[in-house]
Amino acid sequence: MNFYKTLLKPLLFRFDPEWIHDRLIGWGGVMEHFPPLLKVMSRFYGFTDPRLETRLLGVRFPNPVGLAAGFDKNGRIVPFLAALGFGFIEIGSVSFDPSEGNPKPRLFRLPLDEAVVVHYGLPNEGALRIHARLRRVYPEVPVPLGVNLVNTNRGPERLPRSYGEIVDDYVQSARLLKDTADYLCLNLSCPNTEAGKDFFLQKDPMRDLLSAMEEIRLPCPLFLKVSPAGGVVGIETLLEVVDSFSIVSGFVFNLPRGKPDNLKTPAWVWEAWPGAVSGRPVREIANSWIREMYRRMDRNRYVIIGTGGIFSAEDAYEKIKLGASLVQILTSLPYEGPGLVKRINRGLARLLERDGFRRLSEAIGAGNPA
Ligand SMILES: Cc1cc2nc3c(=O)[nH]c(=O)nc-3n(C[C@H](O)[C@H](O)[C@H](O)COP(=O)(O)O)c2cc1C
Repeated sequence: MNFYKTLLKPLLFRFDPEWIHDRLIGWGGVMEHFPPLLKVMSRFYGFTDPRLETRLLGVRFPNPVGLAAGFDKNGRIVPFLAALGFGFIEIGSVSFDPSEGNPKPRLFRLPLDEAVVVHYGLPNEGALRIHARLRRVYPEVPVPLGVNLVNTNRGPERLPRSYGEIVDDYVQSARLLKDTADYLCLNLSCPNTEAGKDFFLQKDPMRDLLSAMEEIRLPCPLFLKVSPAGGVVGIETLLEVVDSFSIVSGFVFNLPRGKPDNLKTPAWVWEAWPGAVSGRPVREIANSWIREMYRRMDRNRYVIIGTGGIFSAEDAYEKIKLGASLVQILTSLPYEGPGLVKRINRGLARLLERDGFRRLSEAIGAGNPA
C-alpha cells in the first residue's frame, strides 16, 4: 500500500494548495534543526547507483532527478529537500527586489488531469535576503544547487520602463548570488507576469542581457529558461543569438501560457482561473521542445534540463532519450508523494540496464539521432 497516496494525499488535498505548501516549507524548516532526522530521511529516500551519476559542466550530479524552480522559492529548506534524494535542487525564482507576486488565490489543482494551474507571479523575498540565507547553507548542501533568477514583478501597474531596467534586475541578482550556486538559471519567460511576456524572444534584448551577464564573469554555468511560444523558429532564433555567448551552457523550457487543449477537466472548472498549467498535460508538448532543441543545438556545448509532466521513471527516461541530460520534477510531487524521487531513480537504473547502457550519459539523446 502506498501510504502517501492512500492516506496522506486525500487529507492534504482538502486544504488550499498554497496554504498546505507553505505549511510544508515550515515543517521542512523545523526538521532541519534535527540533523539526525535528515540523515534517516536521506537513508530512506536516497538511491545511489554509479550508473546514474553524471559530471556535466564541471559539476557532479549524483543522479539526474532535480527539483524544479518554484517549490522552494526562497531557499528555505534546501537541506531538507536534498534528504528526499534529489540529484540537484533549483531554488527561486529569485528577483532582485522582494515581490508579493500576484493576488491570491493563485494556485489551483486539477486532480483529474494530475496537474495544477499556477499563477503565482514570482513571489519571493528578494536576492539580498536569499543570499544571506544561502551563504549559511550553501557550503553544506550535499547536492548541486541551482539558483533561478527573474526580473522583479512589481505588478501590472508598474511595468519596467525599458528593457535596460529588466536587464539590470537580472545582473544585480546574478552579481550577488553567483558565488552561492553551482549553476544559475535565468527565467526569461514567466508565463504569469506582464513584464515576463515573451520579451526575450526578441534578439536585441537577449543580446543585451547576455552581454551584460558576460561582464560579471560568472564562476558557474548559466542556463536559460526560455519560452516555448516561438516554436521551432523561436528555438532557431534563440540559438542564433546565444551561440556567440560562451557563458551560456544550456536550456530549460518554461510552461506554455494559458491552458492546453488536452485537459480532461471540464472547462467550466478552470476557465475563471488565471495561469499556466503544469503536470501531466504538458508532458508531450515539453518533449517536443526538447526533441527540436536537441536536433538543432551544439551537443558538445549545451545541456538540456528536461521538465514538464514527469511522473515516473519512464517519463524521465523519455526526456533523457530525447536529449535531456538532467530532468526536474515539481507537480508530480504532491500527486505521488516524497518517495517519487527514489522510484524514478530506481526505475531509471533498471531502464538503463534493460537497454544495455552502462551509464546515463550513453542514453542522452539516444532516441533522437541527428
Ligand atoms: C507551483 C509552481 C510554481 C512555479 N514557479 C516557478 C518559478 O518561480 N520559476 C520558474 O522558473 N518556474 C516555475 N515553475 C515551473 C516549474 O519550474 C517547471 O518548469 C514546470 O512546472 C514543469 O514541471 P512539472 O510539470 O513537473 O511541474 C513553477 C511551477 C509550479 C507548478
